[in-house]
Amino acid sequence: TIFLREDYLAPNFAIDQVYLEFSLNPNKTIVKSTLHMRRLGPGSLVLKGEELELISIAVNQEDYRDFEVNSKELTVHHLPEVFDLEINCSNQPNINSSLMGLYVSNDNFFTQCEAEGFRKITYFLDQPDVLTKFTVKLNASKVDYPVLLSNGNLIEEGELNNGWHFAVWEDPFPKPSYLFALVAGKLEVLERQYITNSGSKKLLQIWVEKKDLSRTKHAMESLIHSIEWDEKRFGLELDLERFMIVAVGDFNMGAMENKGLNIFNTKYVLADQHTATDIDFANIESVVGHEYFHNWTGNRVTCRDWFQLSLKEGLTVFRDQEFSADLMGSDSGRTVKRIEDVRLLRQVQFPEDAGPMAHPIRPDSYQEINNFYTVTVYEKGAEVVRMLHTLLGETGFMKGMKLYFARHDGQAVTCDDFLACMADANQFDAKQFQYWYSQAGTPQVSIKEQYNEVAKTYTLQISQTCPPTPNQSVKAPFHIPLKTKLLVPGQASDEFLIELKETEQQVVLKNIQTKPILSINRDFSAPVILNFDQPENELLFLFDQDDNAFNRWEAIQKIASNNILNNIAPSDPLIEGYRKLMLDPTLDPAFKELCFTLPAETYLHEQLETVDPQIVHHAKVHYQNVLGVRLINEWENLYEANLIASPYSPNAVDAGKRALKNFALKMLLDSNLAKFEAIAFEQLKNCDNMTDFLAALTLLVHYESSFAAEALNLFYQRHQGNDLALDKWFAIQASKPPKQSGKIVQDIRKLKLHSDFKMRNPNRVRSVIHTFCMNNPAGFHDASGEGYEFWYDNVLELDGINPQVAARLARALDRWKKFDAPYQAIMHSQLEKLLTNPLSNDVKEVIQKALN
Ligand code: ARG
Ligand code: ZN
Repeated sequence: TIFLREDYLAPNFAIDQVYLEFSLNPNKTIVKSTLHMRRLGPGSLVLKGEELELISIAVNQEDYRDFEVNSKELTVHHLPEVFDLEINCSNQPNINSSLMGLYVSNDNFFTQCEAEGFRKITYFLDQPDVLTKFTVKLNASKVDYPVLLSNGNLIEEGELNNGWHFAVWEDPFPKPSYLFALVAGKLEVLERQYITNSGSKKLLQIWVEKKDLSRTKHAMESLIHSIEWDEKRFGLELDLERFMIVAVGDFNMGAMENKGLNIFNTKYVLADQHTATDIDFANIESVVGHEYFHNWTGNRVTCRDWFQLSLKEGLTVFRDQEFSADLMGSDSGRTVKRIEDVRLLRQVQFPEDAGPMAHPIRPDSYQEINNFYTVTVYEKGAEVVRMLHTLLGETGFMKGMKLYFARHDGQAVTCDDFLACMADANQFDAKQFQYWYSQAGTPQVSIKEQYNEVAKTYTLQISQTCPPTPNQSVKAPFHIPLKTKLLVPGQASDEFLIELKETEQQVVLKNIQTKPILSINRDFSAPVILNFDQPENELLFLFDQDDNAFNRWEAIQKIASNNILNNIAPSDPLIEGYRKLMLDPTLDPAFKELCFTLPAETYLHEQLETVDPQIVHHAKVHYQNVLGVRLINEWENLYEANLIASPYSPNAVDAGKRALKNFALKMLLDSNLAKFEAIAFEQLKNCDNMTDFLAALTLLVHYESSFAAEALNLFYQRHQGNDLALDKWFAIQASKPPKQSGKIVQDIRKLKLHSDFKMRNPNRVRSVIHTFCMNNPAGFHDASGEGYEFWYDNVLELDGINPQVAARLARALDRWKKFDAPYQAIMHSQLEKLLTNPLSNDVKEVIQKALN
């Protein structure tokens, strides 16, 4: 079935209250649900329910028989205006490997309900526009499940017969079923008190397994920072008496914002310096913030239907990006964060927008909603919110937010409702801006400049197009904000905003005394592809002189892309530019590292008509090697200069130094392995933190150092039994690029045979299989096609276990049409072969669209 946005129907019943009682047993959990219901329109009541066993139904305490039930729905006929509906059913958490609904992980119970998991717990109006007050009673064995948690406030606990106990939780806020959660098991807690701006006392808790308790401090600090930040920047306070985070080792995504009871992948909770990298620390802060910010943007105001997902996700990603940027504590830190976000957008979202799964940030149709938790809905969605922020300014944007909560607190609304608030609060005409919500594809903006020396005018001819995407062949022009500045050596000038609205638009600037150098789309003010042939000397000028640090980075990336794609060695002026960057003492090390980091291969692929992934890989490897060799003395100096003497801290400044130092180490090994591998091995043996250990280990393994085996072994011995650390150990091996002629597929197959490999654990699967297929282009796209065979085998195997994880892997072949004929042919045949199997909805949608 295909679901269409235009088919939205408001529910014909309301569920004002639900009382849920669970008897938790891993083999068979019984759920008794009492719904206080009210009729809103004519017809029968159709409740969703999957993988449930129905035990009994009663209406107003009387046994009721006027219903039908199948594997997806329970339809109840002839119901009165107001009534109590009682449903008894059961499910089997132990055999639930999809990790949706109620499931068991390491002998504890967890739930994941977004988007449509609640229907695997009990029959319900499982759609986000049905807001209900929940009271939940949990019954379970006290020795096996001493901790019993659900949303809201704990109102009662007590003992039962046979060693069981119970807890009753009440959530004062009406919520959709996707925000329901329960947790039961052997868990320990880190607690803090928090006093809000308005003076109310809150209890903050982080629940984990006992062995992990010492690694929860950073998550707690991140939570406190999040609460403070939302009060300060958005004026939004925590609305519950207690806020809980629980970590679980088996989880499909990053984390989930269930009201008052966030459930997190352990990867985004647990950290200490010996097991987590600087990047892990930063990701934890960002994800803790993201889920916390959902409490207002997502929970207090939620989505009317799942087509509106970007209403909460785009806005909340924008908020978490701003949170992380503010916490960087400096302008250059802010730029570093912006560059990282833009890199992700270009590496992953641009290909999605150009491929068979392209969709607007507010999709018009889907077969499986789980396939639409995408970089488009999240990251491009955040860019669209950011453009509004750019067009309206901070003050105007905040006026819009204020109106949004004034109008819609407690409601389930649409993206149009959000945009209307932004427009109404600012007298902003959003008619054209709304195409960002309805049209897919990355707009291309082309620029031609002309300087008239006699008239002293500078003219920009700007045009836009957007390539066709599935079901959208023709596009209306977008409203594109381009932050712009004209740079003239030795002269000051102001930044201004060009609002590109026409297909073709001319901007004439007068009294320009000499030919300026154009700095446009500063800070990446619009998520577009810019076609502007700027000569290398101008790009080098921008790299050296632009007062917008983002555009300095942009200029050097553009030069590097051009050179790699055309297999041109770096020019002498470019090498001098790089050298100057290295030696500049005023620049943030993190920024320098980002300037040197070359564009990702997937991003380079997008810029070619047809791709030979091996040629791109080797061109990049070669270019990098030249940078290593020609600047070898500077790399040695940078390595020394960025060693840190003080004790480990993951703060942005130290993290930046480590990143630059470890990049320098990579360049040293790249230019002369035999000479420098010992330095890497020394670093690995002597360092006191995972960032430096992992960086050194990655280099030793990827460059096939003679120390590689010993280093890998050292890591394994040290971290045996620590799942998150072992994920890194696997990922290093799965991302190893092949040597000139060799294949690496057989090594990956071997990794799967390791006793620590677990096909049912999404983190472990992603660390090996997804890493190889999506993060190792040269290894995966082997001319023999063996990478694609590996992909086929694993999509099929995973689909029988966890369709969401399988569907994500399925997308590794999305861009098959872009590759050179021999690659393309094998990919095509693997895709077609896959479709001959019985597949989940999730995987089927991805493969069918890829073949279309
Ligand atoms: N709302 C969650 C977040 O963005 C993502 C959960 C999605 N889960 C899923 N199974 N599709 O933080
Ligand atoms: Zn989210």
